[in-house]
Amino acid sequence: MGKKIKIAIAGVGNCASALIQGAKYYSENPRDTVGLTSHSLGGYEPGDIEVVAAFDVADTKVGRDLSEAIYARPNNTITVAEVPTTGITVQRGPALDGVGRHLSRIVTTSDEPEVDVKKVLQDTGAEMLVNYLPVGSTNAVRHYASQALEAGIGFLNAIPVFIASEPKWQQTFAEKKIPLAGDDVMSQLGATVVHKTLVKLFVDRGVLIDGTYQLNIGGDMDFYNMLDEERLEDKRISKTSAVKAMADYDIPMRIGPSDYVDFIDNEKICYINIEGKYFGKIPIKLDLKLKVIDAYNSAGIMIDAIRGLKIALDRKLSGPMTSISSYCFKHPPIQMPYTEAKRVFAEFVEGKRDR
Ligand SMILES: NC(=O)c1ccc[n+]([C@@H]2O[C@H](COP(=O)([O-])OP(=O)(O)OC[C@H]3O[C@@H](n4cnc5c(N)ncnc54)[C@H](O)[C@@H]3O)[C@@H](O)[C@H]2O)c1
Repeated sequence: MGKKIKIAIAGVGNCASALIQGAKYYSENPRDTVGLTSHSLGGYEPGDIEVVAAFDVADTKVGRDLSEAIYARPNNTITVAEVPTTGITVQRGPALDGVGRHLSRIVTTSDEPEVDVKKVLQDTGAEMLVNYLPVGSTNAVRHYASQALEAGIGFLNAIPVFIASEPKWQQTFAEKKIPLAGDDVMSQLGATVVHKTLVKLFVDRGVLIDGTYQLNIGGDMDFYNMLDEERLEDKRISKTSAVKAMADYDIPMRIGPSDYVDFIDNEKICYINIEGKYFGKIPIKLDLKLKVIDAYNSAGIMIDAIRGLKIALDRKLSGPMTSISSYCFKHPPIQMPYTEAKRVFAEFVEGKRDR
């Protein structure tokens, strides 16, 4: 085990639950590397991640030990590890626009007083804040990002509110000498990495793509929240931009969350269609169905993003960490094909590049 990586989490939903359970699972099973790109990344292992603070607004989670809050309603991902009492109480963050029209039918906001996020971050010694708020929480995400800045700690943005990919925020983090990475985590083997890689393959092999779509359904609060079309504009932009960047011509495409099916819980089902023409203008059609447990798919990459940002902190790097962002996120400052992103991330970890 290496040095600890002290993280704070905003939003104790399914993704936070999967990350915390996964870190526990791999720390108890150090020889089990199934599902990890590397057990030790830059000397850091999954079990080195220690949550020192957590913020939420739901009355089922605020005031409870993190070990209970991660299993609390409406979280509905699967369990892979029993997390013992952590001694970390979930604190009441500022709600702002975190709980939207749909979520407010299910989530009751805690009436505990709001904490001073910056002070908690400083008092707990958190080194980075991981943002897992619901899609569309623009004001809340900006608030948490500002609190990380004021506390002088790193920021990892797992959601499609644009921070790491925005020049204004990049500059502010660089001026404060703090690293950040994002935006919108690109799951380990999820719809985006599969779709962008297939589009790149079609293009590289000389197939002219006439059109492509990607439909996604899920049965968790993320999908329920995204029934609100007004909240998901940036999610569509993020997912579409990742695929669009793989071709040097405009492809008609429609990509995004499509529906909420409550009884499939945290399972996510994705349908990808690509149609085009190959040699002799012969038509080709690809239809693909991908089924995953969504939260663990995100945790499988956040486990690398967190260790990557810790390496950046150790090296006193600041501003947008482009290699971490391109490898781990859908809407990074620089879009890259997957294999290139993986290469630059490895070079960054090895110390061969400084962002
Ligand atoms: N594979 C994936 O699951 C995946 C991939 C990419 C991006 N994401 C994004 O990650 C985010 C988290 O996903 P999830 O499945 O854990 O969602 P979730 O709905 O289960 O969790 C969100 C949590 O944030 C809390 N919250 C709401 N407003 C808050 C506020 N102001 N302050 C603190 N907490 C607040 C909610 O109560 C809830 O506990 C979503 O935006 C999702 O789109 C997930």
